[in-house]
Formats: sequence, C-alpha cells, structure tokens
Amino acid sequence: MTFSVEDFIARAQSQFAEAQDAASLENAKARFLGKQGEITALLKGLASLSPEEKKEEGARINQLKRQVEDLLNARRAEMAQAELTKKLTAEAIDVTLPGRGRAMGGIHPVIQTWQRVEQIFGSIGFGVANGPEIENDWTNFTALNSPENHPARSMHDTFYIDMNDDKGLPLLLRTHTSPMQVRYARMHKPPIKVIAPGRTYRVDSDATHSPMFHQVEGLWIAEDISFADLKGVYTDFLRTFFESDDLVVRFRPSFFPFTEPSAEIDMMFTSGPNQGKWLEISGCGQVHPNVVRNFGLDPEQYIGFAFGSGLERLTMLRYGVNDLRLFYEGDLRFLRQFA
Ligand code: FA5
Ligand code: MG
Repeated sequence: MTFSVEDFIARAQSQFAEAQDAASLENAKARFLGKQGEITALLKGLASLSPEEKKEEGARINQLKRQVEDLLNARRAEMAQAELTKKLTAEAIDVTLPGRGRAMGGIHPVIQTWQRVEQIFGSIGFGVANGPEIENDWTNFTALNSPENHPARSMHDTFYIDMNDDKGLPLLLRTHTSPMQVRYARMHKPPIKVIAPGRTYRVDSDATHSPMFHQVEGLWIAEDISFADLKGVYTDFLRTFFESDDLVVRFRPSFFPFTEPSAEIDMMFTSGPNQGKWLEISGCGQVHPNVVRNFGLDPEQYIGFAFGSGLERLTMLRYGVNDLRLFYEGDLRFLRQFA
C-alpha cells in the first residue's frame, strides 16, 4: 500500500486551518477520521496484507492517525482561544476613554423660592412646619371659620377625595396652607411663630393659576402681636427676598373668614423692568377670634397675625416670568436658566 504521510499531514493541516467554525472543523475531521474517512479506509485496507506488511503499514497508519488527531486538537484549541479573545475584545472596557460625565441637576425655581423663604423667616425667629396635603374639611375650612356655604368649599373649587378620615370627616386636597395654622397651634404653646410652606390644590388653570401650586403660611400668635408687626415683618421679608429697597408694599383691605381685619398684600417695584405695576403677593390679616378659639386658646388673651403667600407668584416676580405654567412643563430650556 502506498501513501504519503507528508501529503496527508499537509492536506489535514490546510483543511483544518480553513475551517472557521466548530461545524466545518467536524466535517474536515470526518473526511480523515470518520467512518467513511480516508484514514479509516487505510486501516480497513490492512486486512488484505500479509502479517509482515500489516505490522509495518499498521504502525505507519496509526502514527499518521495520531498526528492528524494532534493537528485537530491543536486547531480546536486555537479556535477556542480565538473565540475567547473575540469575546474579551467585545466586552473590553477602555479605561483610557474620557468619562461620559453626568448631567448636573438643578433645584427647581419654585423650590429655590421655598428654600429662600425658609431661610429669611428662619433668620428672624420663625420655625418651619410641614403638614399633610390630604386634609380633612374641618381643618381646611370649618376650624378656619369658613361657613358650610362658603364658595371655596364647592365641588368645582376643591378636589374632594372619596373617603373619610378615621373620625368620619370628609377628605380633600388642601386648598391652602392655612389648615397648618390650626394643626400647629393646637400642638404648641404660645408664643407661636412659624411658617408652613407646601403644596396646595384648587380646580384652577390659567396663566397665573395652576391646579397644584405652593403657598407659604405664616403665623405669629402671642399676647401683643398686632397688625403693625405684620406690616413690619412682611415688608422686611419682601425687601430681603427681592434684594431691593426699591419696592413699596400696600395692604389692601380684603376678606378672609379666618382673619379680621383682612388684607391682600400688593407690592410694586419702583425701579427695574417691572416698575410701576401693583402685584398681589399674599393674603393676610389678624387671626379671627373664632379661629384663636379653635386653636384651643383664649382670644381675650392671645392675638396675632397670619399670612398665606403664593410661592409661584414670588418666583414669577423675582425672575420676571409671566406664565406660571412654564414652571410645570418640565422644559429644560426654561428650567436651565435657574440652575
Ligand atoms: C388664601 O389661600 C388664604 N389662605 C391666604 C391667607 C392666609 C389669608 C392667612 C389670611 C391669612 P388666596 O386664595 O388669595 O388666599 O391665595 C393666596 C395666594 O396664593 C394668592 O395671592 C396667590 O399668590 C396664590 N394662589 C392662589 N391660587 C393659586 C393658583 N391656582 N395657582 C397659583 N397660585 C395661586
Ligand atoms: Mg387672593
């Protein structure tokens, strides 16, 4: 029998090298070592040889077989290595790349106002209180001397909730921060000197009214706090908030069930782009004796003032924004200006 070992080795080597995946390598293997393979055929051919030749040829064929198997295993290992390298490259992290960076968030302009208001009132001795946005109708209206038929209590002004609290009182989204006067005063002894900023809700929507907005309540109750103190404190607050002495403040008579007398606080810049226009900032007044009684205090002994100001309104004035809805559209081009 004549065959060239070198020829076999060369062909096996090149066919194994050509195989680019496991399946084609298996096919190449089958051509040499499979049942119908060439080396298998050589082994079968031994049967027709003399014992002498059989021994010699058999040894040659077996050696060839081993060499082909070695080539096959080497190629298999090579392919596994290539596969691994490919995977590692694909998953590689290039530690020399510059960082992607993280976009810097900013504090919303209305919340900046909230923080500023806390800081300013804090500096003149007011504490800060937080209360529930879901309120019962006693605290939101009744305790604040608002009669059953007051228009603010109507369905089309207030978001009622289909549920009562554990005392059976109807629940609603608070329409102002004034219920915090009641909650705070019933839990603290006078003198009471506090602000309560937070979210409030009304069935409102236009350029200066949003269904969700923010107010800050102020309450100062002691034995001798008068409307004059309110004027001094609030005027001072506005000058500090707007960082300007070029503004005038007016207390315009108004009505709230929970204060008597009551006023709207208007202000006007006397310089700058918005000068010359009166703008309403806040409601205020001397706390009504009925409300002082609902605080659990004697109105003959205790007296004081309260105010409730719109944080959006303060923010709009500070930055000259003319539509409050811009604050809630989430448009980054707008919001970035305040970051
Ligand atoms: C009140 O809510 C009274 N609780 C204020 C008060 C407190 C008076 C304590 C006396 C004593 P008024 O409804 O006017 O009042 O609202 C107060 C301020 O909240 C307004 O001046 C305005 O700045 C703001 N505001 C009211 N409704 C909206 C709204 N829908 N969107 C944005 N701001 C609003
Ligand atoms: Mg008002």
